[in-house]
Amino acid sequence: TNADHVNIVEVGPRDGLQNEKSVIPPEVKIELINRLNRAGLKTIEAGSFVSPKWVPQMAGTADVISRMERLPGNYYPVLVPNLKGLELLLDLLAKHPPSAGGPPPPTNEIAVFTAATEAFCKANTNCSIVESLERIHAVTRKALDHGLRVRGYVSVVISCPYEGKVSPQKVKEVTRALLDIGCYEVSLGDTVGTGTPATVREMLETVMGGAGTVPANKLAGHYHDTFGTAVANIMTSLDMGLRTFDASVGGLGGCPYSPGATGNVATEDVLYALKGSKYTTDGDLDALVDVGDWISKKLQRTNASRAGKAILAR
Ligand code: HMG
Ligand code: MG
Repeated sequence: TNADHVNIVEVGPRDGLQNEKSVIPPEVKIELINRLNRAGLKTIEAGSFVSPKWVPQMAGTADVISRMERLPGNYYPVLVPNLKGLELLLDLLAKHPPSAGGPPPPTNEIAVFTAATEAFCKANTNCSIVESLERIHAVTRKALDHGLRVRGYVSVVISCPYEGKVSPQKVKEVTRALLDIGCYEVSLGDTVGTGTPATVREMLETVMGGAGTVPANKLAGHYHDTFGTAVANIMTSLDMGLRTFDASVGGLGGCPYSPGATGNVATEDVLYALKGSKYTTDGDLDALVDVGDWISKKLQRTNASRAGKAILAR
């Protein structure tokens, strides 16, 4: 493996769309994922098996992942908050048994999620951090038994909409717990997007230092771009050894439980920032600019990718 390769986890179809107010037809979600596949991305978060009462926009995920194009070797994670979600997913997988020469199964990876503050954990999953780790433990054991990869998320790693500044030590504890439970990687979510290179560095130094140290290759950065610092935060994280970043085409998104937060860093902006550097990435910049333009028009929203808009204006 190339130590300077940067893995992109495209979260647009999930984090990007979950907060949209109008109902997005499954055909649009499927076409978005198919276009992202064709633009060369290897990991595309495709939806969520969460309660439709909590996040109505993700209700059709089973249909979407059954009908989207799945390329061999790619990963299509879906969020799973509890055993009920995992059982619904396993029922779906049982309807698509692997067959020689047939398409890959609807998914091969789940993402479990908790938070670094009690208030955010409660708002997002209606339980305490300890209870969420118990749920995640049960979900992860069963998912691993069924051959699925499990990725972990920690939300509010910098600041919390309800509790303010977050303790990096708490981020480390929760990250460690997710890895011990069996997650292959933990994605650190700056949910609100208030992080700066200084606060991200402080947080990562704590998570990666001292007793119970977490190596950089077990971490990913998931930075929302509310304050326009997400690309700078990625550059800082790259300097500190991280090589996996979550991004959303067209800068789609926002979190339903983080009022005012905008989307993830735009995938196009990350690829543009790394152009001509020692780093290689998945995905083709021009193709992703077209996908960002297409989905922004479909959703009648302004394209939030700075690089995308600039390239389109040439
Ligand atoms: P609850 O209300 O405490 O759960 O929610 P419950 O067990 O009492 O269930 C309530 C109802 O939902 C029941 O239906 C269940 O059957 C149903 P009823 O009996 O009333 O008809 N239900 C489900 N249905 C389908 N799939 C399921 C499921 N579970 C229950 N899995 C729960 C607890 C965890 C379910 C809820 O809080 C939930 O779904 N939360 C998810 C919220 C979410 O998706 N947030 C956004 C994703 S995380 C994020 O964006 C952050 C991230 O991007 C990183 C970052 O930026 O920080 C990852
Ligand atoms: Mg997010």
